[in-house]
Order: sequence, then structure tokens, then C-alpha cells
Amino acid sequence: MGVTGLPALKRWMLTTRAGRIALVAPRAALATRQAGIFGSIRRIAGWSIRSRELANFTYATTRDSDRLLAGVMAEIARRPLSEMLTYIDELAADSELADYVVAETSRSANRWSMDPVFLPGRRLAFYLAARALKPALVVEAGVDKGLGAVLVSRALARNAAEGHAGDYLGIEYDREKPIPLYANYPGRIGTIVRGDSVEILRGLGRPVSLFIHDTTAAADHMRAQLATVDPMMETSGLIASTWTTESLVDHAVATGRRLLSHQEEPAGHWFRGDRVGFLWGFGTPPPCRTSETAPPPSG
Ligand SMILES: C[S@@+](CC[C@H](N)C(=O)[O-])C[C@H]1O[C@@H](n2cnc3c(N)ncnc32)[C@H](O)[C@@H]1O
Repeated sequence: MGVTGLPALKRWMLTTRAGRIALVAPRAALATRQAGIFGSIRRIAGWSIRSRELANFTYATTRDSDRLLAGVMAEIARRPLSEMLTYIDELAADSELADYVVAETSRSANRWSMDPVFLPGRRLAFYLAARALKPALVVEAGVDKGLGAVLVSRALARNAAEGHAGDYLGIEYDREKPIPLYANYPGRIGTIVRGDSVEILRGLGRPVSLFIHDTTAAADHMRAQLATVDPMMETSGLIASTWTTESLVDHAVATGRRLLSHQEEPAGHWFRGDRVGFLWGFGTPPPCRTSETAPPPSG
């Protein structure tokens, strides 16, 4: 039906300036409903009372979000999606690790600023990458309380049991910050050093298989860190960055690295989730078949 066939009121709204103004309030109501603003306000109110966290939040992610992350990792690792899903499921079923994290959080001196829960959030990407790639050395820049460090330790322990031993190095800038989750974890692997990640990387002298960037998103820092770690990456290595920022994309463009990103979807939390970026392809890229290099068509 064309505009001319519409009832008079509808035609007036769709075809006149006054109608366009009259639609502002209904459109605002539509956007508010679709953006879920009231749900967010409810979640913020509940979280403000329930949670103790101030930064570096813990939160659950939806099953869809986890399955899409698995899809991204399957592409990077060139392994079946079903295998990635088994890694996600084994972590979800890991009650021993969950109990440890909850108990340790509850007895920590920092318990008034930590939630006694086991919700990996974006650190699921670290666990999955460590399981999928069987890295010889994982370096995590930015450790905080050590939740990522514990998850990586768990992944490395499972890899070792399957015949692929690997090591972990955490780098934490804050010299005073307690790292209770890692420090007290009986199954911890590797070590944590204190200092600036760029400085520590410069003196590392070992190839890195999996580099986790979880420090800050400051552009200068990201550029310096990427420039430092890139030449240290194993050919089959992976950089997982908590931030898919312009600096990460610029680095991928300048170096020809491959790039994928996963926007996670938290469940029941006001936090909108991180966009975890992945850079890989540190070997010599295969020659590109362009129109100049392709052989002329036969016949
Ligand atoms: C988002 S938290 C890390 C979260 C952690 N990976 C986890 O799994 O929960 C960021 C941490 O990076 C540290 N940090 C910031 N700048 C850094 C730098 N240049 N070198 C090393 N650590 C840094 C901060 O002190 C903070 O503890």
C-alpha cells in the first residue's frame, strides 16, 4: 500500500513536519525499550548493593557468547569447534577450581572488594587459547588478583596431563598489590614478576607462544608493548588482547598479522563486556596471488 492508501492520521504522521515532531516521543519510547535501559538500571541497582567490586569485574557470559568465542578460537587454532566446546564445558564443570576461587576470595584480606564467585568472564578466552594452542610459554601482562593466572595454570596442567607441558609468566606493575588467587593456588604454574610489562618483555629472551594483554588500553602503552612482543612471538603464537582498539588494529595492518575479535556478552550484569582481540600469523605469510602474480588464463 502506498502512502496515499494510508488512513489519514498515519499519512499525516509519515508525510508532514508536524507528524515527524509528534513521533519523537513514541520513537524515544521504542528506543528505550529496545536498548533495555530499564533492565540495565535494575541490574545497576542490584549490583551496587550486592557486589563489592570496583574494577576488573567478574561476570558470567551467555552460552551464545561462549559458543561464538569457541568458533573464533577454532578458526585460529585450526581445530574443530566441537573440541573448543569441550574445553569450555570442562571449565564450567570444574567444581574443584570454582570452590578454590570462592574459598580463597572469601578469606582474602581484600575480601571486601572482591566477590566470592567463580565467574571467568573475558578470562574464558585466556583459558580457551591456552587449551587450544598447547603453548610452551604463556605470558600474561597485567595480573591483578590472579584469576587469569589461575585459569591459565589450570589449562597448562590439563595440557601437561595430555603430554604438552607449558610454562607461565605473569607480569604485574603494582609492586604492593597482593595476588592472592595465584599465590595461594596449590596448582599454580610458573611465576609472577613485578614491573612494567614492556621492560620485562625486553629482558625476557625467550620466545612467547601465547601473550595475554590485560594491562591497560592506553595507546602509547599498547603500541610499545605490541612492538616489543611481536618479534618475540613463536610462528604459531597468538596475542590475545582484552582490548580491540585502534592500536591493535593498526598493528595488525602494519605487520600483516591476522586479526579477529570477539565481543563477549555478559549475562545478568550491567557491564557490556570486553571485545577481546586476537592477532596471529607470525610466520612468513604465504605469497599473495594478486592479478599481477597470477599466471595468465590458459586457452
Ligand atoms: C585488568 S587488570 C588484570 C586482570 C587480570 N588479568 C585478571 O585475570 O583478572 C590490569 C592489571 O594490569 C596492571 N598493569 C597496568 N599497567 C601495567 C604495566 N605497564 N605492566 C604490567 N602490569 C600493568 C595493573 O596493576 C592491574 O593489576
